[in-house]
Amino acid sequence: MRNMCLLGIVISLASHTAWAQTPAAPLPPKDVFVAELLKKMSVDEKIGQLRLISIGPEMPREMIRKEIAAGRIGGTFNSISRDENRPMQDAAMRSRLQIPMFFAYDVIHGHRTIFPISLALASSWDMDAIGLSGRIAAREASADSIDLTFAPMVDIARDPRWGRTSEGFGEDTYLVSRIAKVMVQAYQGASPALPGNIMASVKHFALYGAVEGGRDYNTVDMSPTRMFQDYLPPYHAAIEAGAGSVMVALNSINGVPATSNMWLMQDLLRKDWGFKGVAVSDHGAINELIKHGVAKDSREAAKLAIKAGIDMSMNDKAYGEELPGLLKSGEVPQSDLDNAVREVLGAKYDMGLFADPYLRIGKAEDDPADTKADSRLHRAEAREVARKSLVLLKNQNDTLPLNKQARIALVGPLAKAPIDIMGSWAAAGQPAQSVTVFDGMRNAIAQQDNLIYARGANITDDQSVVDYLNFLNFDAPEVVNDPRAAQVMIDEAVKAAQQADVVVAVVGESRGMSHESSSRTNLDIPASQRALITALKATGKPLVLVLMNGRPLSIDVQQQQADAVLETWFSGTEGGNAIADVLFGDYNPSGKLPITFPRSVGQIPTYYSHLSIGRPFTPGKPGNYTSQYFDEGNSPLYPFGYGLSYTDFSLSDVRLSAKTLKPGATLTASVTVTNTGKRAGETVVQLYIQDVTASMSRAVKELKNFEKVMLNPGEQKVVQFTLSENDLKFYNAQLQHVAEPGEFNVQIGLDSQNVQQNSFQLQ
Ligand code: NOJ
Repeated sequence: MRNMCLLGIVISLASHTAWAQTPAAPLPPKDVFVAELLKKMSVDEKIGQLRLISIGPEMPREMIRKEIAAGRIGGTFNSISRDENRPMQDAAMRSRLQIPMFFAYDVIHGHRTIFPISLALASSWDMDAIGLSGRIAAREASADSIDLTFAPMVDIARDPRWGRTSEGFGEDTYLVSRIAKVMVQAYQGASPALPGNIMASVKHFALYGAVEGGRDYNTVDMSPTRMFQDYLPPYHAAIEAGAGSVMVALNSINGVPATSNMWLMQDLLRKDWGFKGVAVSDHGAINELIKHGVAKDSREAAKLAIKAGIDMSMNDKAYGEELPGLLKSGEVPQSDLDNAVREVLGAKYDMGLFADPYLRIGKAEDDPADTKADSRLHRAEAREVARKSLVLLKNQNDTLPLNKQARIALVGPLAKAPIDIMGSWAAAGQPAQSVTVFDGMRNAIAQQDNLIYARGANITDDQSVVDYLNFLNFDAPEVVNDPRAAQVMIDEAVKAAQQADVVVAVVGESRGMSHESSSRTNLDIPASQRALITALKATGKPLVLVLMNGRPLSIDVQQQQADAVLETWFSGTEGGNAIADVLFGDYNPSGKLPITFPRSVGQIPTYYSHLSIGRPFTPGKPGNYTSQYFDEGNSPLYPFGYGLSYTDFSLSDVRLSAKTLKPGATLTASVTVTNTGKRAGETVVQLYIQDVTASMSRAVKELKNFEKVMLNPGEQKVVQFTLSENDLKFYNAQLQHVAEPGEFNVQIGLDSQNVQQNSFQLQ
């Protein structure tokens, strides 16, 4: 059938079964296949391939099918079941050249089974667990006929006021780059064309996480060295891992929007990095070039975007409406159009869609009777991954783990929050299938009367915030306040606390507070919940805070009020069970922060890998003219890499195999880590490097490797890291990636601040 379509013979297929029954002849190689097909396409058909349409109320389904059959749509997103997508693929098979559609979706941290949000996944520092979440997401999504995910999102986030901090993997270049690779491999497997795999569209290229002031969609202004050193490597890692697609960022970079940025899209992405996949604009981004002030109208916007190398336009009419005229007038040469179409067709080839347009849609008779059936979920895996993502921040007097026989007051607006626990971008996740903290704790204890629940507070009593959060939701309001007076709810919670041995307060943000377009000027837990915590503290009962949030919060006061603090982020479908596993000690927490917690919002940025400066603040020696805030401590509240366990670990000094490293050679740095406590547990041994003197100021330390180790009580393990010249390289003022001879400090710790140090010379 394919070959027929290559020969230009139009065969109309009433249904996909004809494809399925035709023995598949091997396709010609991609370049040959795409070149042949391109020759047969009319200009209109080519332009049609560049349109990526959102399935939503804007365009009726019937109209979409007509457009597809006319060859005017290349792909869609937001339709997420086989029976929704099959008629669209059938329509594509009725089009003149039968070019298949692809179907995309934002599968960010799970598809039907919701895994912890990306920031939480990063907290596991466990590449197997992260990869497993991606594999399952791909399998579930492909079983629902999704061909491509707009993920992984690998924007480095160093300003937690930015709501999309929750969507990424944190502040650190090395950690995010490692995860970028793992995620691409998890989604795509050996090939995105194989069953069960989907194509990854890495986003948002580039630097979106550095929007000024953390305000979404704002400008990014950044030195080239910082870009290359800190912000670009994760995208590069994803592309090196074979990501078939890139989504282009909404922001401008040093004044030039990414969507029209020739340097970014052509010089860096295509020429320097050799990217050969399809570049997709973000939602409406081409027309936004007018508002960016670089295009006077939609025509100019389309011209700038196609020239920059934006292959597909996401939900944007500019290409469809303007390219015909631009091509006719010669303002856009045919070759620009062909280049874009070639990438779209190439991506479809890579997704396996030319070989079988119904690869992921399958046959109607095999469709799941109920797409939302619980049997389609991967609960055990979600629970396992979720427990690895929880970070114990404080545990005074061994308040945790809790005794399963204790009377527990469970309070807080997030204790029973099936929507929030899934986090933002929860794809096809169903709140009714989420295990809340209340459910999880109930499941864990035998005597259910021992769990006394009281809501205690609303997430926020600020009606304008509630309205904003609900405005973002099309279906139904997500934040529904209890109409009772705040004091009535607090009194009820205090009463519950007084009857209990220990209080567990589940507090933080609603999921919508850490989302796209949800930036904040402060990072406090909302006032209603702070008042609740203060009232609970006054009862004198041991107080455990279970935090739910999508970004670091400023919790200095609350962590002082609490005896124990567990950071759970938004932990997904099985979150409540996973949290109960940790609270009751059925699982020993092992997560480490992938992002620094500031003491207060004014300290931002607080990322650990800042450059050396001339007047650093020295703890314990507060000189007047050193870099500090006089009204706030200089250190973060919790540093990058930090997280406690129910057991204790000690680290030996750092041993180096040599005191000098020759270019081309390697050196090993090792430590002995010992479990000095009474329980088996895992910890993450982290290796940081400091280039002491170089041609430019360098970071005070940078993560270069880590290993997660499991140790029984009393057990020791030697953890050994191999260092080569490559680990010492940085982008110098000429943007050359070099290692400069001289002294390097090697720091190894169980977080980024509390480290053992040794040093060597690079010759
Ligand atoms: C806009 C977001 O910026 C992007 O991350 C997402 O993939 C698209 N919308 C599609 O939902």
